[in-house]
Amino acid sequence: MLAMTEELLNLPVPHVPAGGSGVAWLRSQVVRFSEGAEHTRRRALTTSLLEGVDATTLDELAVRLLPGALDEVAVIAPSYQPHEPIMETADAAVERLVARHGRTETTAARIGLLVQAWAATRAFADRLTSGDPTPPVPLTRRATAAGIVEVDLTGHPFGHGAHACPGRELATKIAKNMAFRALHHRDEPLLLPNAWDHATAAALQEAGFPAVATTSFGVSAAHGVPDASGLAKEHTRTLARLLSALPCPVTADVEGGFSADPDEVAEYVASLGVSGINLEDGRGDHLNNPAEQAELITAVKRRTPGVFVNARIDTHWLGVDATISEVLTRAEHYLAAGADGIFVPRLPLPDIATVTAAFDTPLNVLAGEPVERLRDLGVRRISTGSQLFRAARTTTVETAKALLSPGTRSGAA
Ligand code: HEM
Repeated sequence: MLAMTEELLNLPVPHVPAGGSGVAWLRSQVVRFSEGAEHTRRRALTTSLLEGVDATTLDELAVRLLPGALDEVAVIAPSYQPHEPIMETADAAVERLVARHGRTETTAARIGLLVQAWAATRAFADRLTSGDPTPPVPLTRRATAAGIVEVDLTGHPFGHGAHACPGRELATKIAKNMAFRALHHRDEPLLLPNAWDHATAAALQEAGFPAVATTSFGVSAAHGVPDASGLAKEHTRTLARLLSALPCPVTADVEGGFSADPDEVAEYVASLGVSGINLEDGRGDHLNNPAEQAELITAVKRRTPGVFVNARIDTHWLGVDATISEVLTRAEHYLAAGADGIFVPRLPLPDIATVTAAFDTPLNVLAGEPVERLRDLGVRRISTGSQLFRAARTTTVETAKALLSPGTRSGAA
């Protein structure tokens, strides 16, 4: 079945006539509907336009490829495919972009890239959020002597052969970012387990958790360094990069950002390739100044707007200024700086309701109380923190003792 799909995808794409204006012109210029030498040339152009684009959102991608074009692209997209009727509004949108950027193959390539990205990336994010296994682009078309055939893309979500999607890596990153954000805004809270290595993260993803986080305590302990000491910077980066290849969104616990310099923190976060971070305001036994902490958040959001910044407030974790008014003040600072979520570990139940009533932004708390209770208090994200790591360590020691105690029958491993 898959081999047959590959054979069909190797057939030529439907022919589009040359010339014209508006959408007809666009179709005749883009890699998607070209074959032979024209396809080779346009494919190289497309790939070169995507090179080095490290966008974290569709908006950012549009800014890199064709500033101000995203609204026009939304109008063009429903008329793009040759089997679709061309709307007058789509023709007009193409002509406006041509007037601004020139009637060149490069303009067409830029518009084409954004059109290809537009609906498919949203559909991909929806699939990641809902767990629906159907391909985001369900089918494509090919030309045969008998006419146009529809090719089911099950098993080949990014196509195959010469026309396979050149935006796969970028699209996956953006879609995961979109999905991770969406997971905070569903009816049920996001239940987020914290892993400390690839094996635990992959096992949690395979068990059906829609996203996976890391625990700085577990990552530090696994590498023999103290938590929140800043010594796990490279271990955290290595793990985050490894986990970014998982098929689900990943969020990394980056302690206090491993630097006091906002630009350094922002570059560090950009280098992780993950969909979210936890950035804490605890610094050892004291709290960072909220204005300085807010600067770190602003820098991260400016550099990687698609990365979900969960601003952790450590008042109650450290037992320093552990009052609801301090939490609210800090939350206001961090939200004004662009934080996407607030995380207050050890926040007492009555205070949880105060925080969720004060802000629309998702509140994250540590697991412990029944999920339904936390949901009813308005909590949008419940994470395990270091509890899985601690449980695994205890189980490891207990299992070793049980297996190696006198009289135990040792089974095959
Ligand atoms: C950043 C986002 C994206 C960009 C820039 C992009 C770009 C492109 C381009 C330019 C092509 C035409 C390549 C050619 O004809 O040689 C293409 C094809 C394709 N894309 Fe993407 N794409 C994006 C997202 C996605 C997503 C999210 C999916 C679905 C998971 C997807 C699925 C496909 C498929 C199936 C094809 C092949 C169509 C065929 O062979 O008929 N794309 N993409």
